[in-house]
Amino acid sequence: MDGAAELVFCVNGRKVIEKNVDPETMLLPYLRKKLQLTGTKYGCGGGGCGACTVMISRYNPITKRIRHYPANACLLPICSLHGAAVTTVEGVGSTKARIHPVQERIAKCHGTQCGFCTPGMVMSIYTLLRNHPEPTLDQLTDALGGNLCRCTGYRPIIDACKTFCKTSGCCQSKENGVCCLDQGINELPEFEEGNKTSPKLFSEEEFLPLDPTQELIFPPELMIMAEKQPQRTRVFVGDRMTWISPVTLKELLEAKVKYPQAPIVMGNTSVGPEVKFKGAFHPVIISPDCIEELSVVNHADDGLTLGAGLSLAQVKEILAEVIQKLPEEKTQTYHAVWKHLGTLAGCQIRNMASLGGHIVSRHLDSDLNPLLAVGNCTLNLLSKEGERQIPLNEQFLTKCPSADLKPGEILVSVNIPYSRKWEFVSAFRQAQRQQNALAIVNSGMRVFFGEGGGIIRELSIAYGGVGPTTICAKNSCQQLIGRPWNEEMLDAACRLILDEVSLPGWAPGGKVEFKRTLVISFFFKFYLKVSQILKTMDPVRYPGLADKYESALEDLHSRNHWGTSKYQDVDPKQLPQDPIGRPIMHLSGIKHTTGEAIYCDDMPVLDGELFLAFVTSSRAHAEIVSIDLSEALSLPGVVDIVTEEDLRGVNSFCLLIEPEKLLETQEVFCVGQLVCAVVADSEVQAKRAAKRVKIVYQDLEPVILTIEEAIRHHSFFQGERKLEYGNVDEAFKVVDQVLEGEIHMGGQEHFYMETQSMLAVPKGEDQEMDVYVSSQFPKYIQDIVAATLKVPANKIMCHVKRVGGAFGGKVTKTGIMAAITAFAANKHGRPVRCILERGEDMLITGGRHPYLGKYKAGFMNDGRILALDVEHYCNGGATLDESLFVIEIGLLKVDNAYKFPNLRFRGWACRTNLPSNTALRGFGFPQSGLITENCITEVAAKCGLSPEKVRMMNMYKEIDQTPYKQEIDATNLTQCWKECMATSSYSLRKVAVEKFNSENYWKKKGLAMVPLKFPVGVLSTAAAQAAALVHIYLDGSVLVTHGGIEMGQGVHTKMIQVASRELRMPMSNVHLRGTSTETVPNANVSGGSVVADLNGLAVKDACQTLLKRLEPIISKNPKGTWKDWAQAAFDESISLSATGYFRGYESHMNWETGEGHPFEYFVFGAACSEVEIDCLTGAHKNIRTDIVMDIGHSINPALDVGQIEGAFIQGMGLYTIEELKYSPQGVLYTRGPDQYKIPAVSDVPTELHVSFLPPSQNSNTLYSSKGLGEPGVFLGCSVFFAIHDAVRAARQERGLLGPLKLDSPLTPEKIRMACEDKFTKMIPRDEPGSYVPWNIPV
Ligand SMILES: Cc1cc2nc3c(=O)[nH]c(=O)nc-3n(C[C@H](O)[C@H](O)[C@H](O)COP(=O)(O)OP(=O)(O)OC[C@H]3O[C@@H](n4cnc5c(N)ncnc54)[C@H](O)[C@@H]3O)c2cc1C
Ligand code: FES
Ligand code: FES
Repeated sequence: MDGAAELVFCVNGRKVIEKNVDPETMLLPYLRKKLQLTGTKYGCGGGGCGACTVMISRYNPITKRIRHYPANACLLPICSLHGAAVTTVEGVGSTKARIHPVQERIAKCHGTQCGFCTPGMVMSIYTLLRNHPEPTLDQLTDALGGNLCRCTGYRPIIDACKTFCKTSGCCQSKENGVCCLDQGINELPEFEEGNKTSPKLFSEEEFLPLDPTQELIFPPELMIMAEKQPQRTRVFVGDRMTWISPVTLKELLEAKVKYPQAPIVMGNTSVGPEVKFKGAFHPVIISPDCIEELSVVNHADDGLTLGAGLSLAQVKEILAEVIQKLPEEKTQTYHAVWKHLGTLAGCQIRNMASLGGHIVSRHLDSDLNPLLAVGNCTLNLLSKEGERQIPLNEQFLTKCPSADLKPGEILVSVNIPYSRKWEFVSAFRQAQRQQNALAIVNSGMRVFFGEGGGIIRELSIAYGGVGPTTICAKNSCQQLIGRPWNEEMLDAACRLILDEVSLPGWAPGGKVEFKRTLVISFFFKFYLKVSQILKTMDPVRYPGLADKYESALEDLHSRNHWGTSKYQDVDPKQLPQDPIGRPIMHLSGIKHTTGEAIYCDDMPVLDGELFLAFVTSSRAHAEIVSIDLSEALSLPGVVDIVTEEDLRGVNSFCLLIEPEKLLETQEVFCVGQLVCAVVADSEVQAKRAAKRVKIVYQDLEPVILTIEEAIRHHSFFQGERKLEYGNVDEAFKVVDQVLEGEIHMGGQEHFYMETQSMLAVPKGEDQEMDVYVSSQFPKYIQDIVAATLKVPANKIMCHVKRVGGAFGGKVTKTGIMAAITAFAANKHGRPVRCILERGEDMLITGGRHPYLGKYKAGFMNDGRILALDVEHYCNGGATLDESLFVIEIGLLKVDNAYKFPNLRFRGWACRTNLPSNTALRGFGFPQSGLITENCITEVAAKCGLSPEKVRMMNMYKEIDQTPYKQEIDATNLTQCWKECMATSSYSLRKVAVEKFNSENYWKKKGLAMVPLKFPVGVLSTAAAQAAALVHIYLDGSVLVTHGGIEMGQGVHTKMIQVASRELRMPMSNVHLRGTSTETVPNANVSGGSVVADLNGLAVKDACQTLLKRLEPIISKNPKGTWKDWAQAAFDESISLSATGYFRGYESHMNWETGEGHPFEYFVFGAACSEVEIDCLTGAHKNIRTDIVMDIGHSINPALDVGQIEGAFIQGMGLYTIEELKYSPQGVLYTRGPDQYKIPAVSDVPTELHVSFLPPSQNSNTLYSSKGLGEPGVFLGCSVFFAIHDAVRAARQERGLLGPLKLDSPLTPEKIRMACEDKFTKMIPRDEPGSYVPWNIPV
């Protein structure tokens, strides 16, 4: 067993030989730090985001075939790569050599914004194309299922990838039985004349063709190695861990005997996350390499035998083939397993994870184990003692020692028997998101009737997600044997199952009542499905289902997406080289797709660099009794631990109103508060040491976590904020009806793909320091660092090249962390880097404020709302941060698109013991707007009108006045609404939805349209000032700098467009290096939709200054080049450098009088969404969304459509699936993509149409453009209200006509529980207060 400890593999065709490999090393840090291939990104470290996707290729010397598959580098131990070829984004193509068509098309189709997810996207599609050069749309969406993008909304990525499909011209949608090419309600939206309808914002003709012969070949050396070299067990010994890779079954067994406790690592997708996130440690790992017996595929008389080492992706392929070949009656189990394999994790995980690893892991939410258990599968085990078989049954699944693997035993293969005639197997699952999400509950069910007769001979039911492991409802099944398959049996079965599969109210994972309901809803689905089959098999004996019940059987899947965008034509008289108004690609687009774009942590490690890791509080409110640093300090490589003591005198900083402490070692106010920071010479050591800091706490009272608790304790930041208009009390006296209601809205995690990152570099003289940081606000970083180091700001320079997504989350907390990092760097005179892991980031940095909105509306019977009294409470968390500002903005925008003649708005920011919440795209408006729209929906229900009718009736019309007495011209609001009604065929589709609902009992559709009035401005003139610096060099090239941060929105691209127009030179002549406090001082924060607006005016100003200076020179030589003019100017001593300045929009707000002019202009829009829900599971499908926006003159329609779509999808996530979970002790559970679900590709509406109104003039803004970063988020609530509409239809059919209260996010749990039926009535309910729930709504 003592083979050569030499690891050989290839990366991008280059051979890598590692002699002293550390088995704890994963491929991701190895690529990034050791090989400096930084294109592969870290997004989560747990296989959940796809940012780290690479392609692995392996050659099988027996079959002589090469297998290419995508894999998550973050979970791939490098020791598992012996003989493999790794391809990273750098190996696919580069600007220096050749750009690959995938890279070109994703960039040119505008599929990148911040670009951080892009290399992963490229790798997923590249790998797909290596296997299928002309993929189907299903293969495409499947390939992207494991990749998250927080910016784009996926539509442009899908569009780019579709260009590789054979059938890219058609949507391939069978929605309503029609596709895009058919006529009918789904036909292309009608666009008005004068506006260009462009189905694409790119031109396919210019794309490089895909030529599979040009791809990197599998390294011949590795092929020879696999063919020729005698295979021997390899052993790699590290400091703490030994890795053994046996290559024969015999050696594997020997290793297992020697190390019975060592896990057998196959895909490492179960062991890896346990080590990384749960602190598991294995001194020895056994990882079989290419052992043939583990990959066996055997077709025997009684079934299929599959090797334990086959990947889940391979199993899926094998089963697909078998299902094709064999009669249906034999493949019931295979079909059910295959179906689950379609939604289990993403493509990468399915390709890494093994069947054996999946089975033996026995996760409580395993999708396959319940099916394999009901399918009577057996496990073929092997040990030194010989072979044996055990059933994969409940005892095995509960790890009962008599039914489990023995130490020294391994799983070789699995027998999956054929099903028999009159035997039926089904798979069910419901998760928070359609794809790449662990099931909340899943199930496998099998029934066998013997030779017809409809009498149950065998019945097996197993569930996942409802206990510590897979649970079998054995007793229930036993008792049902012998009964006929009819309604009485169904009723009895549900009662028996509920009794047997019981869940306590406090069960981990929460959602207890939902889970109880799913348990029997799934059985009901199974009952219907089997009844339907029985009917087709013997229609005489089995009457079957009523037609309207059949809808329960189909799964909801959104797959073959298609979309259109309509944007404005540029004036035909505009010069061809003038880029304003044209769909120019993001200037970093190609660099994003090639992985060449550099983010903070991509900067090479500097000499003597240290790493900083934070230690955070584990209590919500406690006194720190003691902190013991000794063990942490004693670890090798640990240099220092920064505490409050070190920061004496500089431990707090005030950004807005209240100062915030940097570190807290006396009293902590939330879980996740920064207590101290470990500085070590490596990331691994810093993190290890941080875990060894021992803190003793004394809990303190009160612990306030929820808004309700804060109200009870009167725990608010400052007093109320108030706005009043008209006379509310008088109006309430004259209205026909008054309603009171409330809605609770959960928070949202920013989930920028690049986690908080910073690098502080002391310059070694004059106390100078450079801080490289992923921040939206370099000036603040400069200020807080300077204050912490007690040096003037002119010594600290902050640089931001680009940010991998921010959405408001890279302002306040970033500053605090940067200050501590800089302090450590200054103290030790060495560079210090701090990169948060995803879980830390989510825990520490807070997010969007959860809201409670209470309203009282007075209205007439015709739907006119005459009086509105609204109260807003936001959960601000432990420190003030921007909470009051969020409340103020929420109040100023609460009217959304409506003229309420009498109103009173009041708002409070609650101080609680949660991590401080902060800015997030939309800044209070997404919450505030939802509260108002919910009120309108309730008013409509009371009046018996459609919400759309009430919306229209109460909307601002033409010239009007806002509650703060600012004038508003709402002509374009009406226009957007009308166009949206028309393009979405609202009326026709409303009828179609009603028809569908009358014909389907268990599925319902919903349609909703919401208007948008988004006021743009930052409430103060000073906060809207901006500056730029433009240099012209003597060769005629231009360098532009401005104060805005490039965080994906494309501001740098727009600034170059501005410079290009103003200086009348091609864009290629203008360059932009990044943002720095060195070039533009005192720049405002980048946020609030105004970054391009404000900085663009400054760039324009600088360019005009230069042009004015140069005009005499240009007019002397009008045919000259910029080089000639620059030289001439230089010769005449004319400065070729100019600053540009914009002093800010006039803006003011007087809260005393409730009057002001806080905003510069309004963005108008409307969105219409259609959904379908499954009343039995709570699943929903986004069928179609139409968005119409008034954006003035678009500077760059491609970027603007991208902002609208990206924000819409982010909003859709906010209102439907993104759910933060806190324990009753205030601990955030949802700390990664495995627990917190942002929209994935499968959530994008099957049809998404975006169009702009024709351009309108707005003299004060940059070329009459409008800021678009935030408004689209709110439009996501059209999906919320469409679901609301569908739920209401379900309830009406069930005779539930009373008020409907649905909170946000409208998750599958809430949808299912609102669609009350006999199953929700059947479940046991726990007395509130009789148990401590697993989680609490905050
Ligand atoms: C991001 C992500 C998403 C996921 N989503 C889903 C999902 O939606 N649904 C779902 O069901 N699962 C999901 N999973 C879980 C996944 O299915 C399992 O982690 C995976 O199947 C385990 O296989 P592996 O080969 O990676 O196991 P490893 O991590 O390599 O091994 C796991 C365990 O199995 C043992 N083992 C492996 N092979 C053998 C053998 N031959 N004999 C004896 N013991 C053996 C090992 O000793 C070890 O204890 C997800 C996992 C991740 C990381
Ligand atoms: S970093 Fe590997 S999947 Fe997220
Ligand atoms: S572009 Fe996808 S995460 Fe930013």
